[in-house]
Amino acid sequence: MPPAGAQRTLDVAIQRKSFRSASGESLDVLKDINFSLEPGEVGAIAGPSGCGKTTLLRIVAGLDTDFTGAVRRPAQGRLGYVFQEPRLLAWRSAADNVRIAAPETDEAGLEALFSALGLAGHADHYPGELSGGLARRVSLARAFAARPDLLVLDEPFVSLDAALAERLRGELAALVARRPVTTLLVTHDIEEAIALADRIILLSPRPARILGELRIDTPRGGRGLALTNKLRADIAQLNAAAGA
Ligand SMILES: Nc1ncnc2c1ncn2[C@@H]1O[C@H](COP(=O)(O)OP(=O)(O)OP(=O)(O)O)[C@@H](O)[C@H]1O
Ligand SMILES: [Mg+2]
Repeated sequence: MPPAGAQRTLDVAIQRKSFRSASGESLDVLKDINFSLEPGEVGAIAGPSGCGKTTLLRIVAGLDTDFTGAVRRPAQGRLGYVFQEPRLLAWRSAADNVRIAAPETDEAGLEALFSALGLAGHADHYPGELSGGLARRVSLARAFAARPDLLVLDEPFVSLDAALAERLRGELAALVARRPVTTLLVTHDIEEAIALADRIILLSPRPARILGELRIDTPRGGRGLALTNKLRADIAQLNAAAGA
C-alpha cells in the first residue's frame, strides 16, 4: 500500500509535445492532453494513425521527459509496458525475457501465465524463433508478470487472429479484475476499447488533442449491443464534429 497522502491517481497534463527534425523544423505532436485515471481504472486511447498515441504513452510511462506539462504517476507504481513492437532480448529465451523483467515470478506462476497466453511449449524458444504474434504474447507475459500498478499497452492485440485477440482481451480483463492496475491501452479498434475500457479518450489527427472522453459505467461483461452501438455513434459524432 502506498503511504497515506501519496499520489494514487495517474494525472496527465501535457500542454505541448513537439519533435525537432534533422532539418530543424518543429513537428507538433500533442496539444493540451489532460486526463486522469483512478487506481484500477482502464483508459483506452483511440485516434488516427500517426496522431501521437505512442508518443503519449512514452510520456505517461516516463520514457520521454522532453515535453511541456506534467505527468504524475501513482506512487510506488511498478510499470508494465507492452511496446508497439515486442522488443524482446534476442539472446534470451522467451521464459528468460519474462524472468529478467520479473525476477520474483516463481516457475509455477510463469507456467500458468504462459499457458493462459497460449505460449505453452514456447518457453525455451528464442525471439528469432517466434512468429510476430507469439513474440507479442511474450511481451504481454513480461508486462503481466511484473505485477504492474501502471500498465501501458500500445496496440497489444494487433496481428493476432480474432479468436486469440478475444482470449487475450479476456486475460487482460482478468488481470485488472484480480488487482487494481491502472491501465492505459492504445487501440485502433473501437469495439476493443468499448469491451475493455472504463473511459475512452478520443484523439484528433496530429497534433493530437482530446476530442472527447466517454465514460463507461456498465461493468465489462455486461456491455451489450445497444451500449456498443450508442458509444460507436457518440464516437462517430465527435469525429465528425472535429472534421476528423
Ligand atoms: N523520435 C521522433 N522524432 C521525430 N518525430 C517523431 C518521433 N517519434 C514520433 N515522431 C513523429 O510524431 C508523430 C506521432 O508519432 P506516434 O508514433 O506517436 O504516432 P501514433 O499515433 O502512435 O501512430 P501509429 O498509429 O502509426 O502507431 C508522427 O508524425 C511521427 O513521425
Ligand atoms: Mg503508435
